[in-house]
Amino acid sequence: MAVAIVVHGGAWEIPPRLVDRHERGCIRAAQIGHDVLRQGGSALDAVEAAVCDLEDDETFDAGRGSFLDRDGNVSLDAGVMDGDSMKSGAVAWVSGIRNPVSLARKLLEQGVASLLAGSGAEEFARESGFSIVPPEAMTTEAAIEFYRTHRSENPRQIFEPLPRGTVGAVALDARGAIASATSTGGLPGKRRGRVGDSPIVGAGYFAETGAGGASATGHGESILTVGLTRVAVDAMRNGLSATDAAAVAVEALRHPKIGGAGGLITLDANGTAGHAHTTSRMARAWIDVNGDGAMV
Ligand code: GLY
Repeated sequence: MAVAIVVHGGAWEIPPRLVDRHERGCIRAAQIGHDVLRQGGSALDAVEAAVCDLEDDETFDAGRGSFLDRDGNVSLDAGVMDGDSMKSGAVAWVSGIRNPVSLARKLLEQGVASLLAGSGAEEFARESGFSIVPPEAMTTEAAIEFYRTHRSENPRQIFEPLPRGTVGAVALDARGAIASATSTGGLPGKRRGRVGDSPIVGAGYFAETGAGGASATGHGESILTVGLTRVAVDAMRNGLSATDAAAVAVEALRHPKIGGAGGLITLDANGTAGHAHTTSRMARAWIDVNGDGAMV
């Protein structure tokens, strides 16, 4: 059976000077995930490898170099779903973890909980052998500069338009299994304890073998209200193509009472990738049954 992968690096108003970096980063991550699939790895292995690579790239709002929260710290969310077992694992508001998507996968495999937050997630990381790095290892000059220039005492302020965003991947492996993963530093300046859609199954990520998978990016509060990725996978299960399913989900995000900004990538059970977004740009790359490509 053919293998396929689609990745994204956020849907916001990515400025022209950052377009090349976003495109290169997405192409590289898609290639890494595809290599895993070609070598016989599982869809879960592929989305983890692709998202780890995006987390390590400071271009994106995930892992090292993420936007800082209101207190000037990096606090990360990530989730991963295995569409075969329909099990998910997620961590929220974790600090000092280089690759939160790997911690989320560890939780999925251990099965002690679906979602761990804050100090509980960090305790689980230590117990599971993850190294905890100091705060300065997770911050970059660019993130500190953005924090300095956009800092606000207004707790409701969202610094739109944002120059970069959340990352994610969806993959189909040679056995036909589908997996999805999403990782983020969240909105810049978020108040302590604020968690968006990315670590919430059905909102930030969802996968169901035989139906499809999806990963979301954008304004977390709106995506949570819609249950964006669940809407898309339900649509693919009901026979819509990956592209049409993404469009249906984004239409729900445009509901006049929600008015959400963001987007998602989708992959159907036949290995065709799709996407849709409300924002001016969405960084993404794919290697699917119809070929490969990238777009920002
Ligand atoms: N979509 C990422 C967030 O709102 O936290």
